[in-house]
Amino acid sequence: MGKLIFAIESSCDETAAAVVEDGRKILSDVIYTQIKDHAEFGGVVPEIASRAHVEKITPVVRKALMESGASWKDISAIAVTKGPGLVGSLLVGVNFAKTLAFSLGLPLIGVNHIEGHISANYLEHQDLEPPYGCLVVSGGHTHLLSVDDYGQMRVLARTRDDAAGEAFDKVSRTLGLGYPGGPAIERAAVKGDPKAIEFPRARIDEAPMDFSFSGLKSAVLNYINKQKMKGDKVNPYDVSASFQEAVIDVLSEHTRMAIRQNLWKKIAMGGGVSANGALRQRMEDMAKEEGAVLYYPSPRLCTDNAAMIGAAGYYRFIKGERADLALNADPSLRL
Ligand code: KG4
Ligand code: ZN
Repeated sequence: MGKLIFAIESSCDETAAAVVEDGRKILSDVIYTQIKDHAEFGGVVPEIASRAHVEKITPVVRKALMESGASWKDISAIAVTKGPGLVGSLLVGVNFAKTLAFSLGLPLIGVNHIEGHISANYLEHQDLEPPYGCLVVSGGHTHLLSVDDYGQMRVLARTRDDAAGEAFDKVSRTLGLGYPGGPAIERAAVKGDPKAIEFPRARIDEAPMDFSFSGLKSAVLNYINKQKMKGDKVNPYDVSASFQEAVIDVLSEHTRMAIRQNLWKKIAMGGGVSANGALRQRMEDMAKEEGAVLYYPSPRLCTDNAAMIGAAGYYRFIKGERADLALNADPSLRL
């Protein structure tokens, strides 16, 4: 048996625990999603999230250990998401991980959630090794990064305002399609025309690879309001398809710029939005045109999970990195 990392993730609305072997192999991967607790509010309610984490973390941890077939004495270290995320949610996982590490006498590793999303790729692509480029697109983050080595990355571009997933969620709420917005918009977009409405593709002159999605979100709202004022119908399928097309155009073209600038031969994607089928297809086509190989995790590993934290934690563990029991949640942790 290799080195087993027991990982915990609780940064937003998923309570998750996993056992990962040598950073590459999932022995167990348990996710309790709180989606139904938040759906009626159209987004994550922090207080409800913290409370649900407190209720679920013990059974989720137990299940992850049991399903792995391992026992605590087989575990080499405890890894936990220390940020970024919702502070009350993060604290539940961090405190649970500290308690486990202390009582079992195991090393503790604090992991950055974004590094987790990137590392999800190691669980399914055994040939993927740094250096490579990466696009992280989730509900809270939109980053283009250079992954120079395990646990060593540079942010090349980021969003100036909303994250891509946040834009999906807000547009979905406006159209009354429900939460989470990404999958709802993707389903609606299949029935619509991506060229029906011309929504803006923002460009920031002094930083052309940076992203901005708040203007796009406002353009969708304005369009809907104008239609209503004119007494015209809003076709939710066309709005979804045209909005999604604008997001995909921007994400793929900025990634193309980064590939050319950095001469990447390999690029990866991660985060909830990278589960989007239309985005995956466009990124595949773009990567092929640029002579690069594209990697992305299966949808379950794109959205929040603890296995990705186990993968990232493993590479920090073998480098000798250790957190002490003063480890704290950092809601705005940077890479
Ligand atoms: O990575 P994630 O689970 O949590 C964060 O770290 O934020 O990402 C959640 C985000 C949500 O905004 C959700 O709407 C979006 O990912 N998402 C999608 C899809 N599935 C999830 N966006 C577009 N298409 C999807 N299929
Ligand atoms: Zn995430």
